[in-house]
Amino acid sequence: MSLFLRKTGLEPVDGGHGTGLKRTLGALDLTFLGIGAIIGAGLFSSIKDMIVGTTAASGVQMMGAGPAVMVSYALTALACGFAALCYAEISAMVPNAGSAYSYSYAAFGELIAWIIGWDLIIEYAIGNVYVAQSWGDYFQSFLHGLNGDWTLPAWLTKDFQTATKLVGDAGAVLANAASSIGERGAAQSTLDAWANAPRIGEWVVSINLPAAGITIALTVLLFLGIRESTRVNAVMVVLKLGLVAAFIGLGALTIWRRGETHWTPFAPNGFTGIWHGAALGFFSYIGFDAVSTAGEECKNPQRDLPRGLIASLLICTVLYVLTAAVLTGVVPYESIVTNDPLAQAMEAMGYRNFATVFAFGAVIAMTAVLLVFQLGQTRIFMVMSRDGLLPKVFSKVHPRFQTPHISTWVTGLVVALACSVLTPGQAIGMCNIGTLFAFALVALGVIVLRIREPDRPRPFKVPLYPVTPILAILACLALILGLERSNYLRLVLWLAAGLLVYAAYGYRNSVLRRNSRGG
Ligand code: ALA
Repeated sequence: MSLFLRKTGLEPVDGGHGTGLKRTLGALDLTFLGIGAIIGAGLFSSIKDMIVGTTAASGVQMMGAGPAVMVSYALTALACGFAALCYAEISAMVPNAGSAYSYSYAAFGELIAWIIGWDLIIEYAIGNVYVAQSWGDYFQSFLHGLNGDWTLPAWLTKDFQTATKLVGDAGAVLANAASSIGERGAAQSTLDAWANAPRIGEWVVSINLPAAGITIALTVLLFLGIRESTRVNAVMVVLKLGLVAAFIGLGALTIWRRGETHWTPFAPNGFTGIWHGAALGFFSYIGFDAVSTAGEECKNPQRDLPRGLIASLLICTVLYVLTAAVLTGVVPYESIVTNDPLAQAMEAMGYRNFATVFAFGAVIAMTAVLLVFQLGQTRIFMVMSRDGLLPKVFSKVHPRFQTPHISTWVTGLVVALACSVLTPGQAIGMCNIGTLFAFALVALGVIVLRIREPDRPRPFKVPLYPVTPILAILACLALILGLERSNYLRLVLWLAAGLLVYAAYGYRNSVLRRNSRGG
C-alpha cells in the first residue's frame, strides 16, 4: 500500500549545503526568536479563562485554577520542555521548512504527514483567530483609554455567537428586578445597538471588525513582501519584556503598599482547576517550535538549540508565573472578567494612563505574533503544494512581489472570516488540541526515526532517550484530556474533512508517489 511512502531522500544537515541557508544563529538569537513567537495573546488574554474557567449555555465547561494558575503555567512549561527537545532533535536532522509536516513525512510516510499538515492549519490559522480577537479587545481598550466615548457596539466587535449571547444576557439583566440602574442602562444600550444593527433578512450582520481588519492589513503586507527580520523581532522582544516587567513591577509595588494579596483560596477548584488551566495555558507557550525549526541555521545546533529552547521557555515561564502571581494578588480572581485582564488590572491598581499605554504595547506585541503565524501557515501550504498534496496554485509566486500570493490571501481571508464565526473559546480550544496532537506525533517520530534510521546524522539528540519522548507524548495526552470535550469532536471532524481532501486530490497528485512509480 503506497499510503505510507516515506521521504527518505532528505538531505542530512551537513553545514547547510542542502538548503542554502547560512549558519549564523547562536543561542542568544534563538532565545530571542523563541520569546518573540511565544509571548502574546495567551498571557494578555487567555490567562483570564485559565483563572476563572469558561462557561457556556450548558454550564461550566472548564474549571478555573484561581490563583493556582501559577502552578498551571509551571506544569505546562514542563510538558513543553519535553516536546521542545523532541522538536529540536527531529528538526535538526530533517532540514525542511514544513515543520512537523516534513518531519512526519520522513518518519511515518505520506498519509500521516498529510494529517499533520492539515492539523497544522489549526495551529497556525485558528491560533491566529484567537490572537486577532485578543488584539481587537486590547485595541478597543486602547481606544477607550484615549477617549472614554470611543466604544464600538457588540455587533461590530464580536463574533456572531458571542454577540448573540451578550444580547441574551442584556435581556436577562432588564428582566431581573434586582438589576441596578447602571446595569440596566448598559443592557439597554446593548439592545438598542443590536436593534439598529444591519440585517440580512432576520440575521444581524455581526462581525469582529478590529480582528478582521488587522488580519487583512497584515495579509496585504505579506502579499507585498514584508519579511521576518531579526532586528524587528529583537525590538519586539524588548518591548514585550518591558511591558511584562512593568506589569510585574507595578503589581508587586501595589501588593507591597497594600500589605495583602488575594491569594486565598489558592486553588478554588483543586487539582481539576489547575489541570484545566494548564491545558488552556498551552496556548501561551505555542511558538517555541519556531526555535527548533531554525536548526539548520544554527552555528552549533547540538549546543545552541537546546540552550535557546530551554532559555526561551524558562524566561517565559518565570514571566508567566510572576504575572499570574501579581494579577491574582492585586485583584480578587472572581473579578477578572474582561478579555484584556492585564489592562483592567492596571486600572484597578490606579494606573489608568499606564493601562492605555500597556494596551497599545500589547496591540503591537500581538501584531508580531500574528505575522509569524500568518507566515508560518503560508509556508506549510507552499511545502504541501510542492509535494503535490495541495493544488499548485498554493506554491505559485507572484511575478512582481515574489510572494506566495494565493496562499497568503487564502490564509488571510479564512482567518478574517473565522474571527466573526468562532468564539475565542472555540478558537483556542481547537488550536491547543491540534497543536498537542501534532507535538505528540513529533515525539513519536523521534522514536520511530531512531529505530528506522539509527545511523542517520543527528546534529542534536534528546537527552535521556527514550524517556524524554515518552514523557512528551504522555504530557501532550494529559493536556489534551484537560481540554473541554467538544474540542475532540471538532478535531475529529476537521481531520475527517482532511482525509476527504487527501482522497480526492493529494493521493492522486502526490509527487513522491508519481516518482516512486517512475512516472
Ligand atoms: N503563544 C502565542 C500567544 O500567546 C501563540 O499569542
